[in-house]
Amino acid sequence: MTDFSQMLSKVAVANLEHSIGNPINPRMVAAVQNAKGLVNIGSGTPDLPTPDFVLDAMRDGLRDGILQYTPYDGIASLRQAIAAKLQKENHLEYTENNIIVTAGAQEAIYVMCAALLNPGDEVILTNPYYSAYNNIVALCGGNAVTVHVKPETGWSWDLVALEAAITPRTKLVIVVSPDNPTGAVVTRETMMGIAALAEKYNFLVVSDELYEKYIYDGAEQFSFARLPNMLERTITVNGFSKTYGMTGLRVGYLAVPMWLKQVATETRHMHSISTSTPTQLAALAALTGDQSAWAERLATYAERRAYLISRLEQMKLPFIRTKGSYYIMADIRASNMNSMEFSSSLIEQHSVRVGPGAVFGSGAEGFIRLSLMCPRPTMDGALDKLEQFWKPFA
Ligand SMILES: Cc1ncc(COP(=O)(O)O)c(C=O)c1O
Repeated sequence: MTDFSQMLSKVAVANLEHSIGNPINPRMVAAVQNAKGLVNIGSGTPDLPTPDFVLDAMRDGLRDGILQYTPYDGIASLRQAIAAKLQKENHLEYTENNIIVTAGAQEAIYVMCAALLNPGDEVILTNPYYSAYNNIVALCGGNAVTVHVKPETGWSWDLVALEAAITPRTKLVIVVSPDNPTGAVVTRETMMGIAALAEKYNFLVVSDELYEKYIYDGAEQFSFARLPNMLERTITVNGFSKTYGMTGLRVGYLAVPMWLKQVATETRHMHSISTSTPTQLAALAALTGDQSAWAERLATYAERRAYLISRLEQMKLPFIRTKGSYYIMADIRASNMNSMEFSSSLIEQHSVRVGPGAVFGSGAEGFIRLSLMCPRPTMDGALDKLEQFWKPFA
């Protein structure tokens, strides 16, 4: 029999390493498949419904037959609204000419890497990381280099370790703030340190601000491109999935310096030509419509966060208290199980799913990712089961 697996791209196969759906994690795959009434308290998908005025804009577009390709970089009115948002909320000096609308932030990351990387170029990211970064970098011919951030420091950047990881091949440093999976918010001071290194060693910075609205305990959300001289060195990645609860509509964007615009736009053209037209209309409505809907959602998530924290304290499951995103990393090392074993057992015994740290890199082993994207009282019930499961290790 011909072994067709030999035909597959080695980089694409390596890309499966962290995938929960990969047969290299057969126990987890089987646990998920066999579970009855599975409740996910580690999900990355906002559960509150998308407001009607956003969906109406999409329905109107469909009814009016607005279904053709748009300009590759997106509908002009949406790019204007995005630039206005970035100016007003993030204090960034972008105009609509800097914006490229994409199918989610994920495609923005892909387009940015494809437009910038030459074979062997190095891209520095933290470990733990959002695994799309290292995989997309590899698929685009680059080498991902990771710098560990440690739970003891609240997963904050170590600028000495960062500088040590820089080589003449370093092209990009990825800053995700607030972070997935750790929830860490990178401070303005740390960003200034990264900016100084960017000038010293001549690299670019990607600022992924997808979780910008999820900020707690008085932390400051700061956009990297605001720093002096950084607008020309920064690629800002953002989107509608997390803030607006629109993960399935697939709208994100890049804000790029003008020197990158044409190449990145043509790269975006080759990837999927343009972003779906009705969903661009939905994104425009989300930015320009009644903003009170979003504040209410964030208040609900903040309440859930306070509840989750109180429950973890009560059950004596240690966790790292960070100030952003909608994730909390709980420390399961006392169980003597690795994160995949822990997560599989929890599903097998209680039909409760969490995010095993292993999918976020070696730096997250010994941790599980919990999230706020589960409605109460479902969340309460799942936490009761987690408490029962954790009891022998507390
Ligand atoms: C840090 C980060 N960046 C980008 C993405 C991609 O998001 P989307 O393509 O839905 O905008 C995610 C999704 O979870 C993420 O966590």
